[in-house]
Amino acid sequence: MFTINDNYQKLPGSYLFSTIAKKVSAYATANPDKSLIRLGIGDVTQPIAPAILEAFHGAVDEMGEAESFRGYSPDSMGYEFLRSAILENDYKSRGAEVYVDEIFVSDGAKSDSANIQEIFGADNKIAVTDPVYPVYVDSNVMAGRCGSYDEKTEKWSNVIYLPCTLENNFVPEFPKEVPDIIYLCYPNNPTGTTISKEQLQEWVDYANKNGALIIYDGAYEAYISSPDVAHTIYECQGARTCAIEIRSFSKNAGFTGVRLSHTVVPKDLTCGGISLHGLWARRQNTKFNGTAYIIQKAGEAVYSAEGKAQLADQIAYYMRNAKLIYESLQSVGYQVFGGVDAPYIWLKTPQNMSSWEFFDYLLEKGNVVGTPGSGFGPSGEGYFRLTAFGSYENTVAALERIKGL
Ligand code: MLT
Repeated sequence: MFTINDNYQKLPGSYLFSTIAKKVSAYATANPDKSLIRLGIGDVTQPIAPAILEAFHGAVDEMGEAESFRGYSPDSMGYEFLRSAILENDYKSRGAEVYVDEIFVSDGAKSDSANIQEIFGADNKIAVTDPVYPVYVDSNVMAGRCGSYDEKTEKWSNVIYLPCTLENNFVPEFPKEVPDIIYLCYPNNPTGTTISKEQLQEWVDYANKNGALIIYDGAYEAYISSPDVAHTIYECQGARTCAIEIRSFSKNAGFTGVRLSHTVVPKDLTCGGISLHGLWARRQNTKFNGTAYIIQKAGEAVYSAEGKAQLADQIAYYMRNAKLIYESLQSVGYQVFGGVDAPYIWLKTPQNMSSWEFFDYLLEKGNVVGTPGSGFGPSGEGYFRLTAFGSYENTVAALERIKGL
């Protein structure tokens, strides 16, 4: 008789954004006359930029001609044209040492950040900033690495939590117990805050000194405006021996529905003489047949002169929303954070409401959907996230509603 992976049974409830979607859909069904404004999940709303769309069309046409048709890609790492564009623009231009054969093109930072744990032993202890993007923890729970869940504390017994709250200015402190694997995401989802390059360097030094590995999620890199923030962890000295970086095309190019990302595994990264690059290549070649050619061609156009200019306008559009959310909420007395180097605004819930109480209040009284901070971890309790990825008009309307509450 077959058995199941019991670790799945340990996961509390459903995935955060599915829970929210179900709640919102139940409310919408019960109140068909209400028009909801969704500033919950970090999903983009601006259409694919023209230069990228043109590349898509061109690639689709290529697939229709025998001479330019493509079947399986040469290997699962991605076409060299895209990996070279990534290398030049995301790493060389920043003075970061990365090589073209260290870049693995994939179908999303969500899948890569969930899958990367497969190449590590079951006995590794992970550390996460708290609040945190839920995928890092849940994927390790599925692999049996997190121990048991305590419903009271909302913590896993075998996870090291690095609280990031108002009290420490959302900057994690080094834990008492040394973790094996540390997940960092900067600019941060969900708090919208970030750390300086100097502070990131301290984490790289810590990891190298303690034989720990950093999994660095740079999905929101395009939103960095502060000059002292690193655009890639490989700007830090020594990162090649302790860090894997995961990057997304979702938030910088509107690819949430298209699906494209890349992960860098430096060849200097080893464990007992075994190359992590080799392990990840083996994993990808076995389980993944690469991202669609047409999507990789569209990804290449992200780095063209026109593509860059058009995407800079999109980022500016979203960041105008972020500024508006930040300033409007502050003007009516909310404590607000983030929104400068990231498209998320993190706010303290008013009148000591719990995160879910505020979620319900905003949904029912303002018909605005946000994300409860506690859904991202215990230190998110009492906080709430709004995204700047809505349309400008909806953002303005949502703020009028919130201000009127
Ligand atoms: C979020 O809202 O946190 C993100 O959209 C989730 C994701 O990127 O998968």
